[in-house]
Amino acid sequence: MKQVKIGIIGTGGIARAYARAYREIPEAKIVGLCDIVPGRAKEYGRVQGFTDAKDFEDYRVMLDKLDLDAVSISTPNVAHAFIAIDCLDAKLDVLCEKPMSVTLEDAVGMAKAAKRNKKILSIGFQPRYDSNMQTIRELVQSGVLGDIYYVETGGGRRRGIPGGSFIKKEEAGFGAIADIGCYSLDMALNALGYPKPLSVTAQSSDYFGRSTKYRGSWDPKDFEVEDFGTAFIRLEGGIVLYFKISWAMHLDSMGSTFFLGTDGALKCRPASTGNWGGAWDGSVGSISIFHDLEGHQTESAIPIQPSGENLFTQKVRAWVQAVQTGGSAPIPGEQIVRNQAVIDGILRSAHSGREVSISIPEI
Ligand SMILES: NC(=O)c1ccc[n+]([C@@H]2O[C@H](COP(=O)([O-])OP(=O)(O)OC[C@H]3O[C@@H](n4cnc5c(N)ncnc54)[C@H](O)[C@@H]3O)[C@@H](O)[C@H]2O)c1
Repeated sequence: MKQVKIGIIGTGGIARAYARAYREIPEAKIVGLCDIVPGRAKEYGRVQGFTDAKDFEDYRVMLDKLDLDAVSISTPNVAHAFIAIDCLDAKLDVLCEKPMSVTLEDAVGMAKAAKRNKKILSIGFQPRYDSNMQTIRELVQSGVLGDIYYVETGGGRRRGIPGGSFIKKEEAGFGAIADIGCYSLDMALNALGYPKPLSVTAQSSDYFGRSTKYRGSWDPKDFEVEDFGTAFIRLEGGIVLYFKISWAMHLDSMGSTFFLGTDGALKCRPASTGNWGGAWDGSVGSISIFHDLEGHQTESAIPIQPSGENLFTQKVRAWVQAVQTGGSAPIPGEQIVRNQAVIDGILRSAHSGREVSISIPEI
């Protein structure tokens, strides 16, 4: 089968993980590299060993000059939607980093572009490839918990405020709520089968990011986004999702993600806590089911599977293989629009100080 000819757009921090992944995927051939900063794509190609790839500063020139099959987009959040839509309209398949976009309108625009061009749009949630995450989904979907009526998810780093493009409104668009919150939301919503979100009441703050009391990799003067958010989200089917996320706090952990059902509950702890741990962008520490066994209140531990191949590589491989075989998107943009709709609702509610309803336009 023919190799998939790919262009990488955005050759900054996370593009290093893409380079590692693509080097291990023989079905992929990196033919183009693009970064808006002059010289950055060329240097990336040299360091990462993509010496045959052509480099560009404008992705539109790359689309024009090269005969590509697909692009992977690893630009800051604000530059996901317009690039993805242009590439889909150029009849290319797209793998786009998380969070999907900055606004719900943009996410819907991306999903529509994939649909009208019949192209693959997949969003980069690599924790989906963790076998323990898959176990959580299987158990929730199996019906063993009965009717699920309440879910708590979220995460918290003790002092994990990133610097660079992540704290600039004009590049990241938003802070912790979308950056690591999108993973916690994906964990819960994917396990539930992505029910439609209906309404949300939320709060956010930026006490740590703007404070000069704490040492870190960021400059408080540059901090323009939120570092904490919490929300009460109503989902279709009478389910309530309670969410909390923090880039920094005076606590070791925000606790477990759990699903309460009429026949049992599923509780999952993150694998690590501390300065950079505690969010569901990493791995699962433990899973247990609480249930009654012949009248006895019981906790059953579900064995944790060892981590296999690098999750990032698995995510990229699944997308490359879908492109090569004409399969469907492994993590469909159309589904992740609901994740973005929740984030959009959280930010609108936090901004207005009241509950807001969520409505998602037809795709
Ligand atoms: N899946 C993961 O584990 C993971 C981890 C980190 C970051 N991310 C996501 O990846 C994205 C990028 O993060 P990063 O840490 O690499 O950021 P970064 O700032 O280090 O790199 C982004 C690069 O994109 C370039 N860029 C900006 N606008 C561009 C444009 N219009 N055309 C071409 N290049 C452009 C920048 O010059 C920069 O080199 C973000 O959306 C982030 O949320 C995902």
